[in-house]
Amino acid sequence: MKPSGNTILMTGGGSGIGAALAHRLHDAGNTVIVAGRRQEALDKVAEGRANIHAMTLDVENAADVEDFAARVIAAHPGLNVLFNNAGIMRFETLTSRRDLSDAEATIVTNVLGPIRVTNALIDHLTAQPDAVIVNVTSGLAFVPLVDAPTYCATKAAIHSYTLSLRDALQGKVEVIELAPPGVQTTLTPGQEKRSMYQPLDDFADEVMRLFAAQPTPDEILVERVRGFRNAERDGKFAETMQQLNDFARKARAEAEA
Ligand SMILES: NC(=O)c1ccc[n+]([C@@H]2O[C@H](COP(=O)([O-])OP(=O)(O)OC[C@H]3O[C@@H](n4cnc5c(N)ncnc54)[C@H](OP(=O)(O)O)[C@@H]3O)[C@@H](O)[C@H]2O)c1
Repeated sequence: MKPSGNTILMTGGGSGIGAALAHRLHDAGNTVIVAGRRQEALDKVAEGRANIHAMTLDVENAADVEDFAARVIAAHPGLNVLFNNAGIMRFETLTSRRDLSDAEATIVTNVLGPIRVTNALIDHLTAQPDAVIVNVTSGLAFVPLVDAPTYCATKAAIHSYTLSLRDALQGKVEVIELAPPGVQTTLTPGQEKRSMYQPLDDFADEVMRLFAAQPTPDEILVERVRGFRNAERDGKFAETMQQLNDFARKARAEAEA
């Protein structure tokens, strides 16, 4: 991905990782469109930055995605980079029968969301020079957190989808996977204050340094996530999964105490 002069769509750009990257990408000389459901949050991210534009989008709604894509292309015909960053994470219990609405919403937002947005923009992107798609997955795509099983499965699904996209679009669109570790955002309640998560600004700065490499690597992996990404390759999957889940259970028990 070229470092400046892009027109970038950042889904989920109204908060957290999307907002932090939108600011940095803008300040590096790119135009950024931040998209999400909350206009107010988007406006706040755009405040004081002339080349950040806010547009509402609900990836849960297929018709809205199509309508949004037509509007964003009309308003920003130079759009050449898509960050599929919008996502939700819900905790779930697997040990007894339950209502599946959280699991279903997670699949719609985290799997159908990026599939829909990519599909709505693909004909435009393949016609652009320097086109890029960045899919935001997670370290949990590679080592699951048992208390968020559907979330982890959606991220593993998008990891796989990204591999197919990269192959299919070779020579037309650069396809990059960004897999964050735990980062201090409001993705789950209280996460923004937990010290074991990476501070958002540190994470976003590290991501920008990795993106600066030319050519940009296929996978953007900050230091903290590499143990997850490589656990299986390094023969450390079982121990990494055990450590992650022991640690998470302890942290949740402390938070609930
Ligand atoms: N923070 C972490 O520890 C971590 C780790 C690994 C991966 N990630 C991934 O990083 C991405 C960003 O998460 P974050 O940590 O920055 O959390 P966040 O602050 O909650 O950001 C998620 C964003 O997605 C948007 N969104 C949710 N549902 C949407 C929908 N139906 N349509 C459009 N936008 C929607 C939200 O905006 P609205 O509510 O306004 O729509 C919000 O701005 C997610 O894909 C997440 O899975 C995060």
